[in-house]
Parts: sequence; structure tokens; C-alpha cells
Amino acid sequence: MKKFVALLLAMIMVLSLAACGGKKAEEPAKESTPSQEQTQTPEVKEGGTIGVCIYKFDDAFMTTYRNALQAILEDKGYTVTVVDGNNDQAKQNEQINTFITQGVDALIINPVMTSAAATIISTVKSAGIPTVLINREPTADEMAAYDKLVYVGCDAAQSGTFQGELILDTPNKGDINGDGKVSYIMIQGDPENIDAQLRTEYSVKALTDAGVEVEQLNLTRGDWDREKGQTICANDLAQFGDKIEVVFCNNDDMAIGALQAIQSAGRKVNEDIYLVGVDALDAALNEVKAGNMTGTVLNDATAQASAAVECMEGLLNGDTYAAGEQSVYVDYVKVTPDNVGDFMK
Ligand code: GAL
Repeated sequence: MKKFVALLLAMIMVLSLAACGGKKAEEPAKESTPSQEQTQTPEVKEGGTIGVCIYKFDDAFMTTYRNALQAILEDKGYTVTVVDGNNDQAKQNEQINTFITQGVDALIINPVMTSAAATIISTVKSAGIPTVLINREPTADEMAAYDKLVYVGCDAAQSGTFQGELILDTPNKGDINGDGKVSYIMIQGDPENIDAQLRTEYSVKALTDAGVEVEQLNLTRGDWDREKGQTICANDLAQFGDKIEVVFCNNDDMAIGALQAIQSAGRKVNEDIYLVGVDALDAALNEVKAGNMTGTVLNDATAQASAAVECMEGLLNGDTYAAGEQSVYVDYVKVTPDNVGDFMK
């Protein structure tokens, strides 16, 4: 375990060093030790004030992420305020404006709506605040409007592909009843979100690319939410029964909900149904270990938080980003019963 943590930390360091590759600012000439008065001027780049906007606190994965972010920033001596957007873009816009009025040195923003990115970017650009966007990726064109802006996240298509591969790795490649096709239900996150769109597409594409025939029995939005995952899965099990061979969930929280429905219906994961999620939440790791989930995909909150802070510090030191080079990605990792121990605390 210690070895794994050391390896992970080393990977994070390599990643963040390689990742936040904005154009380096000129080293300022070191003249004299800054006076107390100087340390209060906006030129001071260390130990500054950071505003962090999270789309909503009531989201399992983003809770892990924001805790990691806060810990890393505070450890480095920043004064941090983290605010809850309550899944309300208008509210988050106000929070961003308040941070700007308060004169924060940098912002880290997890937008409520990806479609609001252009407005957010224009607001932070007008205020000249270095900004790191996280978790909900805008288009490259939108980001190109501001060179003191970077996005840190993951390539959502990769997580979808890994989910499909988890099914392909089962003894019957997901075709439990041997009828020549994999019949599945898809429990989707918020469909406005690129993670939900790409995971939905690429999980199934991994199967079809491998020549496996698929049949979608249902696709329902569960908004990343455990209770919705449970209700959707319970309804689908009532409607389609044994026909369902695979339950794809765009995240683990919905998968944990789905598992409750699967168990209530008397079904047994890895025997008569497969279940996969994304995030590698602690609860999901326990279920993978116990054989109650086929697998999950690590969405590395700590590595993303480290990379976000690294990029933020680069921006604070004057780095700028060229159009088309403003996205920094952290790799997903497949989690199976074989390697789950490596991810458990
Ligand atoms: C995803 C994550 C989900 C949810 C979502 C919010 O990356 O897998 O669980 O947190 O972000 O945008």
C-alpha cells in the first residue's frame, strides 16, 4: 500500500510537472526583500487568497475532490474560501462576482453548467483573474478567449472505454444468457455534462468495436445521484427482468444505488448481472472487493486537485496558455477485483 501511495505521488508529481505547461513567465528580477506593505499588493504571488466554486456540495465525487483541493491549498499557505453553487448557475455567477469584488488572487471553478463557460470566461477575463476550470470542460474555442485560463480534468471518453473493457473482460463478455448480444441499461449522469455524454457513448463503443452486438433496453438520466440510480434500476428490473445483463452507470454513486435495487430484486452481480461505475468512491471499492460490483474506474480526485493547484500557481506566476493547449488531463485507471486493494485506504 505504501509503495502504491509513493508511486501515485511520484506519478502525480511527474504529471503535474509535465501537465501545467503554460508559457513560462519571465523570472522577475529579485531586487530586495519585500516590505510588509509590498506583501499586501496584488503583485505578491504566494500565500494569496483563492476562491473555489463547486457546482454543488451534495455530490459524492466532488466532495472528495473539493476536500483534496482545500487541503492542498491550505497546506501551501493559501487562504481559501470554497462555496456551494447548489447546482444553480445564477447563484454561482453571483459567487464568482463576489470573489472578484473581494479581490481574490485566483479562482478555481467547477461550473454548474458547461454551457455557462463562455460567460464565466468573459467575466474572469474582464477582471483579469487567473482561473482554473475543473471537472466540466468547455470547448477549446471558448477557452481560447482568455490566456490566463486552463482546464484540468480527465478525458471522459477514456473512462467510458474502460467501463466497456471491464465488461469485455468478463468470462462471457457480458452475454450472460448466451443469446449473442449484450442487453444493457444505461444510467446516465446529467446529460448536459460531457462526462455523461462521452461515458454513455464510449462504454458501448468499446463493446461494438470489439465486435460484440449490443441491445440498449433503456437509457435514463440519474443526474449522478444515488437515490435516482436506485429508483431507475428498480424500475428497469421490474420492466425488463432477466433480460438485463449489464447495468452501466456513469458514476459510482448511481451504481451504489443500482446495487441496492439489484440486491432487492434477488439478482447477483457477476453471476446473473454485471454492474460498472466510475469514480472509485470508497463505497464502490468495497463493493468491487466484495464482488458486488464488476468494476469501476478511478477518477483521480487527488491527482486532479494537485494538477489544478500546480496550474493555478503557474498562472499566478504569470504563465499564459496558447489557444488549443489549455486542457490538462489526468488519466483514469481501471479498477477490478484484482487490483482494488491498491486503491483502498
Ligand atoms: C464526474 C464524476 C461524477 C460527478 C460529475 C459532476 O466526473 O464522475 O460522479 O461528480 O463529475 O460533474
